[in-house]
Amino acid sequence: METVLSGIRSTGQLHLGNYFGALKNFVRMQHEANCFFFIADYHSLTTHPDPANLHDNVRSILIEYLAAGLDPDVATIYIQSDLPQVAELSLLLSMHAYLGELERTASFKEKVRKQPGNINAGLLTYPVLMAADILIHRATRVPVGKDQEQHLELTRRFARRFNQIYGVEYFPESLPYNFNQELVKIPGLDGSGKMGKSEGNCIYLSDEDSVIRKKVMKAVTDSGPTEPNSPMPDVIANLFTIMKAVSTPDTLSYFTDKWNSCEIRYGDLKKQLAEDIIKTISPIRERIKDISSNEAYLSKVVKEGAEKARVSANKTLSEVREIMGIKPF
Ligand code: TRP
Repeated sequence: METVLSGIRSTGQLHLGNYFGALKNFVRMQHEANCFFFIADYHSLTTHPDPANLHDNVRSILIEYLAAGLDPDVATIYIQSDLPQVAELSLLLSMHAYLGELERTASFKEKVRKQPGNINAGLLTYPVLMAADILIHRATRVPVGKDQEQHLELTRRFARRFNQIYGVEYFPESLPYNFNQELVKIPGLDGSGKMGKSEGNCIYLSDEDSVIRKKVMKAVTDSGPTEPNSPMPDVIANLFTIMKAVSTPDTLSYFTDKWNSCEIRYGDLKKQLAEDIIKTISPIRERIKDISSNEAYLSKVVKEGAEKARVSANKTLSEVREIMGIKPF
């Protein structure tokens, strides 16, 4: 069975794009593989070292994961900083990570541009810590977006290098996992390509129905088709892409026909779209509320998740120490 590991940086609330792009697939995947889902709070410190928000951000992702259907009795769900083994493995791996390759990483170069006042060592060694996250469970599959592919490539490089230096076949190849084309990319409501927090165009899993309606009604449209069967401009195609994810095939073909016959009324389309988004989100939002008020449950999930994760973390770390020559007296 594959060992799958997924990490998410704790920098805020999850939105519809996160749900269809990842979470919904995770819920299915947890029954098909040995799954680890963790929240990367150490990684957040490279850009958001804010003690006032860190805990709440971690907490809200944990709650949203559970509300969306990740089951702590099925998968291993934990917080990165609950596994000090990860920090130690990162230190050990850093001895074979070269300054040049870390400086050349696209994400590092981007941060150098974006936060010139805080080019900290954590940013430089970010890919080493990420490799430690993955290799601590010797994961063979890692669901990642495009922006993380280079980091995963570095993980494989560090793993190969470790195996080569020490003459072992210890770390596996950690490959990307792309859900067999089932990945749905949810566009923004503002005509932009992608729903994203930094784009400010999100529908959040915690949004109330009225907020969802308001956001959808404000979505950017055009002046409408003038000829039958004309190609859709991106802003309209985006709405149909979201509709494809949340609505029934009948609804989708109804509005597609209306577009093709130039009879489409964007007001009707948006009303229907809003209601169908609400059907997806409102049950999750209600569970978010329930779980949020259940501190005992949350702390039990976190404690038991860390205990489960530590079993494989301890095993890997003691084997790595042994391989590297760190031995007990
Ligand atoms: N770097 C990832 C991101 O920003 C988060 C992450 C940290 C991660 N460690 C990981 C993802 C390990 C997958 C595996 O999205």
